[in-house]
Amino acid sequence: MSTAIKRDVVDYYDTHPINERQIIDKLSLEKNTRDSLNVRDLYAHDQDHYGGTEATKILGDAAELSKDDLVLDICSGMGGPSRYLSTEYGCRVTGVDMTFSRCVAAKNLSNMVGLSQQAKFIQGNAQGLPFQENTFDCIVGQEAWCHVPSKEKLIAECQRTLKPGGRVAFTDIIRTDTISSFLLDRLKNEMTFHNLATATEYKTLLEKNGFTINRHDDLSQEWTRLLEERLRMYRSLSNSTAKSFGEARSEEWDIAYTNFVGHFGAGELGGVRFIATKL
Ligand SMILES: C[S@@+](CC[C@H](N)C(=O)[O-])C[C@H]1O[C@@H](n2cnc3c(N)ncnc32)[C@H](O)[C@@H]1O
Repeated sequence: MSTAIKRDVVDYYDTHPINERQIIDKLSLEKNTRDSLNVRDLYAHDQDHYGGTEATKILGDAAELSKDDLVLDICSGMGGPSRYLSTEYGCRVTGVDMTFSRCVAAKNLSNMVGLSQQAKFIQGNAQGLPFQENTFDCIVGQEAWCHVPSKEKLIAECQRTLKPGGRVAFTDIIRTDTISSFLLDRLKNEMTFHNLATATEYKTLLEKNGFTINRHDDLSQEWTRLLEERLRMYRSLSNSTAKSFGEARSEEWDIAYTNFVGHFGAGELGGVRFIATKL
């Protein structure tokens, strides 16, 4: 059976159930006002990865972030992890993302909580970062590099833009050896996952680019449970998704996400965390 869904990354994130408007509506209901928002009020809503701010804290701690660090968040989305890291570790964070609407949302949400100086956002592509070499102390990424077609270019860009001794700390969706090319093609069309790496491929790429791996965790089991919760969360948003982007997009999202979670549960996909240092 072939899939009728064919999205590109920008279109996928322009019509995503979690978005700036949905977050603001939810916060308005919770707080009954938009005036006195604190960055921590956003934490339950603005993290578009698995495990929320706890997962981002694991990366920040493992990378030993400090207030003097300049951090790059590659594929920063609406900026949830960037705001969290700059608030909790005192560091300055720059987020880069190719989807204009996500960059606008990231800036708006950061302005709203008074973080526009600590967390800045730039539109750009992970395969050719708009930064000079040896700029950053740390690079982070969460559940996003799966969308980047060339992992070779992505890791080479991490190597180029990090200072010597800089750390890369990321989590990502990976494929296992059991997944068929048919399913990978379907995930590309439905979820905009491009050329998913295996854990071994990420490890090899990091080492080839002169990184020492400090930590490598298999998150597959933990994420299987989190993804089931996430599917329920998206279903609870189906009316709001239909209202914003139409009934067809809401139904399409449900089909695509249900397939994705099914492949995850079947062991055809998995999750990894890598912490590595540039020599
Ligand atoms: C799942 S969101 C993750 C956002 C963020 N890491 C978080 O945890 O909240 C993935 C983001 O990756 C961005 N993205 C995908 N491919 C990209 C690329 N080649 N370069 C830059 N951003 C990209 C998308 O626009 C999207 O905002």
